[in-house]
Amino acid sequence: MPSRATEKTDTNRSESKSPTPGQSIVAALSERFDLAEHRRYLARELEGVILDLGAGSGAMVPYLQTAVQREPALRLHALEPDPDRRRQAEQTATTHNLDIHLQSGRAESLPYADDTFDVVIASAVFCTVQDPLLALEEVRRVVKPDGEFRFLEHVRSDGLRGYVQDVVTPLWKRIDNGCRLNRRTDDWIASGPFALDEIETLSIGVSPSRPFVRGTATPVRRTETDDRILK
Ligand SMILES: C[S@@+](CC[C@H](N)C(=O)[O-])C[C@H]1O[C@@H](n2cnc3c(N)ncnc32)[C@H](O)[C@@H]1O
Repeated sequence: MPSRATEKTDTNRSESKSPTPGQSIVAALSERFDLAEHRRYLARELEGVILDLGAGSGAMVPYLQTAVQREPALRLHALEPDPDRRRQAEQTATTHNLDIHLQSGRAESLPYADDTFDVVIASAVFCTVQDPLLALEEVRRVVKPDGEFRFLEHVRSDGLRGYVQDVVTPLWKRIDNGCRLNRRTDDWIASGPFALDEIETLSIGVSPSRPFVRGTATPVRRTETDDRILK
């Protein structure tokens, strides 16, 4: 894992350019002061072929641009099902002069061949996907055997906040684009088709969308026995 010093050198002034299109002031401030360090973590020392899953309006673009400046051979892909956000992401990429292959699609049925990516990045996506377990299986399918899944996700809290998240989620997902506050994405990554390499709980995010976790995981290859069970 890179040191904090490495994370700092991977910074670029373009990361603090104006908000991405369609972003509110609150979201822009949160990007700048809450999430920036963790987006840098997702984009650190990238090599090879990269997928930004559920790219939204392109929040990762400035960080990916920094990664390309360090490693010009990077090949970047991004998937975003929402046409408006996809257009905004295109605009963000153009603003940052970033060559990224952006396409429509869903995490549950990724339009890529097996073993395509060296790294798949997901930031604040698994709260929204319809079927997170299927999406994790798909991420595992498209990550190379020696590749990596990097995530930054808000998850269900313990204690009273978790209970409140359970109660509020049915309404919340209606007003916040399908976002579920009480997803146990951290547990699913740990027990599913990946082996966790590292995971850290972060005291960021505005209640009730907290805590966040960030981490990395590597694919566990499916055995023949698993295949038989799944058939
Ligand atoms: C909260 S936004 C996060 C966007 C971006 N990753 C970021 O860090 O700002 C969640 C994104 O996931 C996308 N999304 C929703 N369902 C999805 C799915 N099934 N597969 C892929 N992306 C999906 C949404 O359209 C939205 O752009």
